[in-house]
Order: sequence, then C-alpha cells, then structure tokens
Amino acid sequence: MLAITLLVLCAVGTQALDNGLARTPPMGWLIWERFRCNTNCKLDPNNCVSEKLVKEMADRMVEDGYKDVGYEYVNLDDCWSDKERDAQGRLQADPDRFPSGIKSLADYIHSRGLKMGIYGDYGTKTCAGYPGSLGHLQTDAQTFADWGIDMLKLDGCNSNVTTMKKGYPEMTKYLNATGRPILFSCSWPDYERAAKIPINYTLVADNCNIWRNYDDINDSWGSITGIIDYYDKTQDTLVPAAGPGHFNDPDMIVVGDQGINVNQANAQMAMWSIFAAPLLMSNDLRNIQPVYRDILQNKEVIRINQDPAGKMGKRVLTYNSTVDIYVRTLAGPLEFALMFLNTAAKPCTVTVSLRQLGFTYQPGFEFEDAFDNGRFVGVFNTDQMYNYTIKATGALLYNLYFSS
Ligand code: GLA
Repeated sequence: MLAITLLVLCAVGTQALDNGLARTPPMGWLIWERFRCNTNCKLDPNNCVSEKLVKEMADRMVEDGYKDVGYEYVNLDDCWSDKERDAQGRLQADPDRFPSGIKSLADYIHSRGLKMGIYGDYGTKTCAGYPGSLGHLQTDAQTFADWGIDMLKLDGCNSNVTTMKKGYPEMTKYLNATGRPILFSCSWPDYERAAKIPINYTLVADNCNIWRNYDDINDSWGSITGIIDYYDKTQDTLVPAAGPGHFNDPDMIVVGDQGINVNQANAQMAMWSIFAAPLLMSNDLRNIQPVYRDILQNKEVIRINQDPAGKMGKRVLTYNSTVDIYVRTLAGPLEFALMFLNTAAKPCTVTVSLRQLGFTYQPGFEFEDAFDNGRFVGVFNTDQMYNYTIKATGALLYNLYFSS
C-alpha cells in the first residue's frame, strides 16, 4: 500500500518533459545569427524578418538537398511578433511582415515536409524588446500549439534569473499539457552561468530538450573557439548531462556565412558533431557557395552527429597547447569518432599513439576520413606512433571501426 502511495505521489510530482523529441540532436535552420532583428522590409525586403524570408528558406531546404540529409526545423527567433499582445492577451505576429500570420506560415512549412520553430522569452520582454511571456506562460504555450509550432526557444532576457529553476519547468508543464510535441530549447543555464548561479543539469535535462550554456555565436573563428574553450573547460559537467532527448547547445552553425573559411567550416561541423550538438544553421541558403553547402551536407559528419547512442564526446588530450584531440563513443558498428582540432594559424603535425588517446583495443582500428566521404585510410595499431597533420585553424575527423 505504501509503495502504491509513493508511486502515485511520484507520478503526480513529476513535471519532466515528456515529448519523445530530440532522440538525436535536432537539425534545421535558425534565422538569428544571419538576419538578426532586421525589421526594415521597406529598405531591405529580401533580408528582413518576414514570412517571405522564412518561406524562401524552407524552399531552399527542400530543393537544395538539406532536408534529404536530415535538416528539418525552420525557426524564427526574436522580432517576429507585434509590439503588443492581442485583445485576448495572446502573442500576435507583426502584421506587416507576417501578413498571413504564424499559423499559415507553419502550414506552409509543414506542407514542405518540414517543422517550424518559434522564439519567446521567459521575462517581461524579449532581448530585442518585444513582449515577453512572464505571466503568460500558459497562454503562450497554448497559442504556439494552436499555431502548429514544433519547437520553442525560450530566452531569458529581462527576468529574475533566480526564478528560472521554477519558471522554466512550469513552461515544460504547460507545453506537455497542450498535447502537442514541441521541442523545448531553454536558455536558462546560460543565464544562470552569467549570474554565477549553480546550474543543476539534472533538472535542466529533465525539462528541456536542448539548452544554451554560453555566449551567442557570431560569424567568426574567434567566436567558435571561444565556445569550444568553454565546453572544454566544463566538459566534466556537460558530458554527463547530454543524452537522447536532451543535449547541450553551443549555438548556431555559421558555415556558409562570410566570416569563416573552408577549414574553419569543416572544424565547426566536426566539433558540433563530437559535441552531439544541434545543427541549426544560420546562413542565407539562397546564396551559398557549393563548397559550404557540401560541408553542411557531409553525410559522414552528420552520421557522427546523429549517432543513436547520443553520447557527447570529450577532449582527451591537448598537444603543444594548440591541438586538441577529442573522442566520441558511438553506438557501433561505427565505434568511435576521433577529431583533431588545430586552433593555431599555421599547420601542425601531431605524433601520438591511439593508446595515448585512451584506446586499449589491441588489434587496433580501421580509420575512415569523415571529410572525404568516409574514404578508407588504413588500419591503425594501438601502440604505434602516427603522424597527423592538421591544417591551420582546421580539423581532422575520423570514423573508427574495430579491426578484426
Ligand atoms: C539572445 C539569444 C540569441 C538571440 C537573441 C535575440 O541574445 O542568446 O540567441 O535569440 O537574444 O534577441
């Protein structure tokens, strides 16, 4: 009897996110890094935050092969809404830039076989000053569900950060209650980090599908390595937090923008795949060089990112302070991903054995080059020293199988 009572109490007490989503890291496109809060459709009709822009991106995702390799979500960010709520207290889209409304936009995106994401803020206003959800969490969860939204990024500007441990799980409860599976992206840990409040990742992972933990990315190598540096320093906390249904989010993929070169683009994709991170591109898919499109659509790299075991990789060694070496354990028969990241502005050769990287399997491993369509590289012995040459601000990424 006592056991039954306890069970019932537990069932009532639980508020965990229960949507079955993000079993592997979500993939898609997110407007923010590239298009920001450009609301000037008069002067810049092709690049302002509008239904026209979002529809054009959905079209490119389908027609240019992104959907075929797994990109699925098409996501708005800040600055989509009107400055006021409607007479019933609901959020509403800016009528000039979204004349057909969000439901109609979601219908369009769904008709293309894709999913739609939207943005809200846990505080009184969004970061760009649009209406926030504080005091309206339940209404907003229901409005998003009614519109057919599939992912919600809930930012944390203009709020009391000390209340987030209670407030974000409240939103989780309201999202669950709508009955619509809505992938929940939380900015909560990032705000706690900035406010120096201890982060409870068990609670975060119970309530969010993905979560930001660090500064916003921008279109530069320095920004990418700044994020990687934070992930390296905190990996002992971040790695155990990640798993199917709940992943760390180091922010958007900026491949195809103007600030990083081909080597750096490969490195970002590789690193985000080792991290089991969401692949949310923020770029202009209407205008992208084929070399970057190929990097974004690299099936071998995506295969690592989407590995069903959902385990995040970690740094195992730093060589001469400029090359970081990472291993991600995979579900098998592809057993491991091995990455070398050279942060220096000149090429570097690393000499290392697999045993020094933590591998013990004596027969050794078959190596495939993930950047080169999985080309077979050779069989690598566990104890032999090998040379690896990594391009300036670039990476190497290998798929490893047990050798027989
Ligand atoms: C914050 C977030 C960004 C973006 C902007 C929008 O800075 O971290 O990702 O959503 O707000 O204003």
